[in-house]
Amino acid sequence: MALKVGIIGNGGIANAHMDGYLSMGEEVEIVACCDINFQKAKDYAEKYGIKNYYDNCYDMLKDNQLDVVSVCTWNNAHAECSIAALEAGCHVLCEKPMAMNTEEALKMKEAAEKNGKLLMIGFVRRQGLDAAAAIDYIKKGYLGEIYYAKATYLRRCGFPGGWFGDVTLSGGGPLIDLGVHVIDLSRYIMGNPKPVTVFGATFNKIGARSHIKGGDWQSETVVEEPVFTVEDLATAMIRFDNGAVLQVEASFNLNLKQSCGDINFFGDKAGLSLSPFELYTEFNNQLADIIPKGKADFDFQRDFRKEIKNFIDAVNGKAECLATAEDGVELMRILDAVYLSAKTGKSVDIVR
Ligand SMILES: NC(=O)c1ccc[n+]([C@@H]2O[C@H](COP(=O)([O-])OP(=O)(O)OC[C@H]3O[C@@H](n4cnc5c(N)ncnc54)[C@H](O)[C@@H]3O)[C@@H](O)[C@H]2O)c1
Repeated sequence: MALKVGIIGNGGIANAHMDGYLSMGEEVEIVACCDINFQKAKDYAEKYGIKNYYDNCYDMLKDNQLDVVSVCTWNNAHAECSIAALEAGCHVLCEKPMAMNTEEALKMKEAAEKNGKLLMIGFVRRQGLDAAAAIDYIKKGYLGEIYYAKATYLRRCGFPGGWFGDVTLSGGGPLIDLGVHVIDLSRYIMGNPKPVTVFGATFNKIGARSHIKGGDWQSETVVEEPVFTVEDLATAMIRFDNGAVLQVEASFNLNLKQSCGDINFFGDKAGLSLSPFELYTEFNNQLADIIPKGKADFDFQRDFRKEIKNFIDAVNGKAECLATAEDGVELMRILDAVYLSAKTGKSVDIVR
């Protein structure tokens, strides 16, 4: 029987979730949607032919016997909406970041465990062919021991606008919005080591930069005079329990030549860059670069569909969930520690 689906938060990313569910054919039935902006729920329902739409998740969950729910709201509502759905007996796929902080994330994980339901986090980059190829090479020993990694997600002019700049709705700036993707992906590829110590710094020197037209990326909720109470640049060094260190940099606005993003993994046998996907090593007493011929990329639509398929397959007991609540909690521990370190100027030990 088809799993009954509900979508909470009907803005930009809810379209990617819908595309994923639609690609699942008869395995799912989209039954209801809701948004605190009722017009958005109505528009989304009309666009996709959804019969039941609401201005809050509680009525949606009460009126419909849903099996699975996607939480696609602003970050400040991830915990509330996920917990409500889990308590109503639904499996939940919650967008990244899992929550505003570790405390909220732990409550979500507890709600999933108490109700015996799956809580998956939308770390879509885990679904990429680049991630799978990197893990394959690492497992086979081609990189040797990975002791250092460097992850960047830098925009020269890419404040998305709207709620992304309001710390009460987002929980932070480029670190929690962009950095979260590359920190999680780094951890995932390195075998999910646990973070132990973090040193971080954040800056708000350039601000929204909304007077410059044609930036890198803008959300659906752009306004003329945006609130900007978040950082515009974050940088951090994260030490894991296996001794490896990850350096991360994420910006909405930064005076660099070109926006860029990559993760480099440095092993004692070879280094690996994800974009472009290349290995750096030595061969016959010479330095050598290896460019594998196989496909090893990240494709947003393809991999978003894979994420939804992984969620549904995991709910049906046919696959292992690739991005668990535990992973979401570890990520929130890292983000909390970066923000605390940035505030105090001191390194922060993560205690569990
Ligand atoms: N996985 C990715 O690559 C990716 C990409 C973009 C956004 N996201 C994440 O998706 C989430 C939404 O981002 P977006 O770009 O779609 O934002 P958006 O503003 O376009 O849409 C969010 C919607 O949630 C609604 N909402 C807020 N609180 C709500 C609540 N309590 N109940 C119901 N609806 C509520 C808002 O009215 C809005 O329509 C964020 O957490 C963001 O980090 C993930």
